[in-house]
Amino acid sequence: MLVDPKSRILGTGAYVPERILSNSELESIVDTSDEWITERTGIKERRVAAEGEAASDMAVAAARRALEAAGLEPGDLDMIIVGTISADMPLPACAAFVQQKLGCRSIPSFDVAAACAGFVYALSIGDQFIRSGSCKHVLVIGVELLSRVLNFKDRTTCVLFGDGAGAAVLGPAGGDGRGVLSTRLYTDATLAESLCIPGGGSREPLTRESLELARDKVHMIGGDIFKVAVKNLTSASRSALADAGLEAKDVDWVVPHQANLRIISQVAQRLELPLSQFVLNIERYGNTSSASIPIALDEAVRDGRITSGQTVLMCALGAGISWASALVRM
Ligand code: ACO
Repeated sequence: MLVDPKSRILGTGAYVPERILSNSELESIVDTSDEWITERTGIKERRVAAEGEAASDMAVAAARRALEAAGLEPGDLDMIIVGTISADMPLPACAAFVQQKLGCRSIPSFDVAAACAGFVYALSIGDQFIRSGSCKHVLVIGVELLSRVLNFKDRTTCVLFGDGAGAAVLGPAGGDGRGVLSTRLYTDATLAESLCIPGGGSREPLTRESLELARDKVHMIGGDIFKVAVKNLTSASRSALADAGLEAKDVDWVVPHQANLRIISQVAQRLELPLSQFVLNIERYGNTSSASIPIALDEAVRDGRITSGQTVLMCALGAGISWASALVRM
C-alpha cells in the first residue's frame, strides 16, 4: 500500500499552430469588429492549424514536451487519455493515433468527450487510475482543432474559438505534499442542445441539405451558457477547495478555462481573488476548449510564474453542459 496514493503532475507541455488569425482579419470574413470581439470576450487573436495538420499531430507535439519535462519516454506510459471533441476521425479515438505516433506499448488509450471540461475530466480519471495502483504514469491531453468544425459564416461562434493542444504527465506523488489534491466532475444536460454539433452523428446523419445548413458545425446559444458558467465554475471551485480542506485565499494561481474574460472576471470576484492571480491567455489563443487549461498551465510553469509547491486551482465549463474543477499542489 502506497503511503501517498495520489498522483502528481510530473511535466507539462503545449503546442499551438503557427498561423495567427486576428480579429481584424475576421472583419473581412464575417460582419464583426475587433472592438466587439475584444469588449465582449477579451480575444484579440487565435491560432489555426495548417492544412493537413490533425488533432493527433498537435496532441503529440504537446505530449513530447510534457514527457521531456517529466524526464520520461513514451515507453514509460501506462495509459493515454485525450480530452477532445475534434478528434482526427469519429472512429477510432484520437488517443489511438497519439499512441501510434508516440510508439507506445499496447496501453489503454481513449478519448473523453467533455468539451471544454475535457482536460480536467482526463486529469481526474488519470488520477483515479494512479490512486488505485493500476497505473504508474498516465499521459493526459487536451486538444482541439475547432477551426474545422466552425461555420465561418456564423459570427456568433467563429470568432470565439482557436486550435491548440496541452498535455501533462501524471505519476506517483512521492509523499511530499505535492499532487492532485481533489477533483470534481459534473454534467447537467438541461442545456445539452445550447452548445452542440447537431449533424453528423447517429441522430442526424449528414445529407447534402444538412451540410448546406452547416449542421456539421458548432451551434451555440452563448447567452444560455454564460448564465450558468459563472455560477457553476464558482461552486465547483469552492467544492474542490473544501474537499482539500482549503479556501480560496490558500490558492496561489487559478488556471481557468479561457472562454470569455467576462466569465473569468466574475468568477474571480465571487471567489474574492484578484484577476492577477489568474493565468490568462485568451487574448492570444481564444477558446481552445479542452486545450485551454493545459496550454495556460504549461505557459505559467515554463515562464516561472507557477513554481514547485504552489497550489493551483483549475476550473472549466463547456458543452454538455459539463464542468469540472481540480486542485493541484505542483
Ligand atoms: N460581432 C459583432 N456582433 C456580434 C457578434 C460578433 N462576432 N456575435 C454576436 N453579435 C451580436 C449579436 O447578434 C447580438 O446582436 P443583437 O443585439 O442585434 O441581436 C449582440 O451582438 C449581443 O449578442 P449576445 O449573444 O447577447 O452577446 P453576449 O454578450 O452574450 O456575448 C458570447 C456572446 C461571447 C458568446 C457570450 O455569450 C459567451 O461567452 N458565452 C459563453 C460561451 C461559453 O462559455 N461556451 C462554453 C465553452 S465552449 C465549448 O464547450 C466547446
